[in-house]
Amino acid sequence: MTKNISSDKNVPKVSDLNNSINKIVVSRGNPFAKLMIIGEAPGAKEEEIGEPFVGRSGKLLDRLLQNAGIDINQDVYFCNVVKCRPPKNRRPTKIEIHENLPWLYQQIKLVNPRVIVLVGATALEAILKIKSRISIIRGEWIDWEGKLVMPVFHPSYLLRNPSKEEGKPMSLTKSDFLKIKEKIDFL
Ligand code: URA
Repeated sequence: MTKNISSDKNVPKVSDLNNSINKIVVSRGNPFAKLMIIGEAPGAKEEEIGEPFVGRSGKLLDRLLQNAGIDINQDVYFCNVVKCRPPKNRRPTKIEIHENLPWLYQQIKLVNPRVIVLVGATALEAILKIKSRISIIRGEWIDWEGKLVMPVFHPSYLLRNPSKEEGKPMSLTKSDFLKIKEKIDFL
């Protein structure tokens, strides 16, 4: 789903992000899904296509979900904390996260997922308000606002750490997605 900033007067203020962008990237997938995946912010490909997680890391994320038996069109709603691409793909600033959060909360309210997967540290901090290394907290179920939340490694981190050896981030993430599949089947 995309919006042209120039044609919409009601778009939220996005601090300095609005100098460099031409599209807002809102979501992909099923708005009635039990599972919501929240990432950090769109990258270049996402901005071009207008959907979250459609670049290299998104393709890896899709494969991880599909390998766990999760249907990426039916079972998942994908979105990001920040809806506009930060210049040079830098991490969103605190103010940008703060300005975008009301929109994310609205998405959570409307989609009303049973399970939320927080992909990477930005999503973890934005939702759970904790600073923890993903390697410590990943794979754990956490209760948040009546929903089950699990942090996982960001796929761009997995692309940089592709070893398939047992105990490494890639194989840990595969088992996290199997746990997620089990949970959405059970709920
Ligand atoms: N990384 C994210 O966190 N979100 C995207 O949509 C793409 C890459």
